Amino acid sequence: MPTTEKPDIPESLVAGARAIVAAQETSEKVRLAYGVSKAWFQRSLALGSLSKDGDMPERPGRPPNPTLLAPRDMPKRSLTGKAGRLALIHSLAHIELNAVDLTWDLIGRFAYVRLPRSYYDDWVRVGLEEAKHFAMLQDRLSRLDATYGDLPAHDGLWQAAQDTGHDLAARLAIIPLVLEARGLDITPPMIEKARQIGDEDTAKCLDIIYRDEKNHVAFGAKWFRFLCDRQGIRAEPAFHAYVRRHFRGALKPPFNDRARSEAGLTPGFYKPLAPLVG
Ligand SMILES: [Fe+2]
Ligand SMILES: [Fe+2]
Repeated sequence: MPTTEKPDIPESLVAGARAIVAAQETSEKVRLAYGVSKAWFQRSLALGSLSKDGDMPERPGRPPNPTLLAPRDMPKRSLTGKAGRLALIHSLAHIELNAVDLTWDLIGRFAYVRLPRSYYDDWVRVGLEEAKHFAMLQDRLSRLDATYGDLPAHDGLWQAAQDTGHDLAARLAIIPLVLEARGLDITPPMIEKARQIGDEDTAKCLDIIYRDEKNHVAFGAKWFRFLCDRQGIRAEPAFHAYVRRHFRGALKPPFNDRARSEAGLTPGFYKPLAPLVG
């Protein structure tokens, strides 16, 4: 019998992940991410499988706006003044929307790999938090009389992920351990800047994002190590090989060594991938 509690929430975690990535409207993506996470943590969803629940979409569903541009075609903007602040929050909202799709893609796409339930608990939590981050920034935009979609956005993040669609360890190396770890380096100066210009509301949003993202990197490090242990290979050299293969360019210092270490990403992982200085 259909329950009124879970309006059109898919019947398995994989089907839910697929529906979230496929959803075009951001409000629908967020609603489904909340609903699927809740059902998963209430233990009322089976895991499901790709053969039963359909393949993951090649590209995520997206609303008609923003216009997506190649990173090199993005207009250069000054980040000062009201327009600059808006552009910054808009670009962060875009990153978080990508993070929603990337996390749920991770959950669905690799469901054929044998993994403990705690693996899914960790990533469903991440998928929920990314949806919250997007909703929070969308709310900040609306308080500034703007909305997500008002400005163009770049289209590089999804592409970076699809390169690793065949290999879970490679995906974990690139998304949480390179890209989200980079967030740990650049967010504290952004928080400081927001406080300096008296934008306490944006600073508070970023505080929450920073705290959550530390956990996302920690989950990445934990499950990357798990996969390496299972194959009997050493995590650090494996990480270096994946990053050299799937990520263009060196990792950019300065690094937030403390936050990275707290997340279990010790310097032996990323220092050898930074350009030599001096
Ligand atoms: Fe996030
Ligand atoms: Fe994240």
